[in-house]
Amino acid sequence: MRVAVVGAGPVGVASAVTAALGGHDVAVVEQRDDRRSCLAEGHLPFHEEALEHAWKALGSSVALRASLRDAESADLVVCCVGTPSLSDGSSDLSQVEGVATEMAGLPPAVFVVRSTVPPGTGTRLGVQLAATGHGYAAHPEFLQEGRALQDSVHPSRIVVGADEPWIHQRVFALYPGLSSPRLAVDIPTAELIKVAANAHLAMRISFINEMAVVAEHFGADIEVVAKGLGMDPRIGPSFLRAGLGYGGSCFPKDVRGLTALSRAVGSELRLLRAVIEVNLQQPVRLVDRLMTRLGSLRDRRVAIWGVAFKPGTDDVRESQAVRVAELLLERGARVVVHDPVVCAPGGLPPHVTWADGAIPALNGADAVVLATEWPEYRTVDPVTAVARMNGMHPLVVDGRNALCEREWVRAGADYQGMGRSQATTQPLGVGV
Ligand SMILES: NC(=O)c1ccc[n+]([C@@H]2O[C@H](COP(=O)([O-])OP(=O)(O)OC[C@H]3O[C@@H](n4cnc5c(N)ncnc54)[C@H](O)[C@@H]3O)[C@@H](O)[C@H]2O)c1
Repeated sequence: MRVAVVGAGPVGVASAVTAALGGHDVAVVEQRDDRRSCLAEGHLPFHEEALEHAWKALGSSVALRASLRDAESADLVVCCVGTPSLSDGSSDLSQVEGVATEMAGLPPAVFVVRSTVPPGTGTRLGVQLAATGHGYAAHPEFLQEGRALQDSVHPSRIVVGADEPWIHQRVFALYPGLSSPRLAVDIPTAELIKVAANAHLAMRISFINEMAVVAEHFGADIEVVAKGLGMDPRIGPSFLRAGLGYGGSCFPKDVRGLTALSRAVGSELRLLRAVIEVNLQQPVRLVDRLMTRLGSLRDRRVAIWGVAFKPGTDDVRESQAVRVAELLLERGARVVVHDPVVCAPGGLPPHVTWADGAIPALNGADAVVLATEWPEYRTVDPVTAVARMNGMHPLVVDGRNALCEREWVRAGADYQGMGRSQATTQPLGVGV
């Protein structure tokens, strides 16, 4: 089939690569010149290692276009544009609507929406597109940043929402030979599967973070609690990592979007409101922990390891690390940040200092906060790290429970994990 993929973010590029690997004739339509130039040179405009290799390997077999009108007529127009939050939490659908409007003068095609949209969107847009001879499919994308290629070429499930069986079949035909389970449903059902999946995962994260508070009070270790919980086949182990909470371009906006939608139809989702509240509280709890251990933060030097919202990506959208930096600055601290991949200041408060390595970030620091669990922080030698820091027992706040507590305590650090037994996190030499 001829496939035009609109939007060259992680979802668009992953969809384009998967379609090209499936033997289709693919064009990527991206309005931003900088993104197209980057792609034309064989690079991605964002950090996604495996996907970049796959993109390079395709060479110039995927066409690049600035608008749908410049692209050859397509059987499928795959819409992968952004759907950011508006100030009231609802989804800004203007990019998706813009592409749907561009379809008006084009030969008949199926408009396939991979962007995450609230339930009800497709029913409305489908009517508009049918009037100009186009079909509509809701085809949510479930990939995780940092593993976009893997998730895209081996999806956990292929969900297609449409009103007519031939549309389901045409979208499934994007994936010849893929053995992933297929689900043919109606449009609102497909839309709700996507936002409900993100809401559920966010709920698990906030749930384990609430349990971490209980663990701290009673001297339990949340890591072991999570392991024991996950061994129950009814629960399973994923998304039960206590820490700073969730961030990124999907979970926060999709949970907000669903709660805003439910408010608009007069049935507030109280559970999701609590999920959001717990998540907003996590950076505050962490900074409060620093104040408990250090007293005032005025003129204290605090290093933050990791800025991306999670490892494997350079995405800082709604990163909890950014919120920690803001709170520390508000309390008068001097903040030094390091990230192995993020190096542009965009998205961070202007008054942070950037360090060019994990160890240099620690020079004279009173505390370090691990905010993103990049593997390289696990391999830092605690003795070398502690020697660079200020004081006998410098504070190490492990916001992702990623460091080896025993080694850091042995090196003399005042190690503080999230939801870990305070009895075992006392620094050596401070009588227990
Ligand atoms: N990033 C993820 O991990 C992920 C996972 C699943 C679903 N989603 C959803 O997929 C959608 C896309 O996410 P993303 O992170 O890939 O997006 P992104 O914001 O990084 O990229 C979207 C791109 O679309 C381009 N664009 C917008 N309108 C255009 C038009 N009319 N013509 C050509 N280009 C246009 C923009 O310039 C931008 O480069 C969102 O709705 C998101 O919620 C994202």
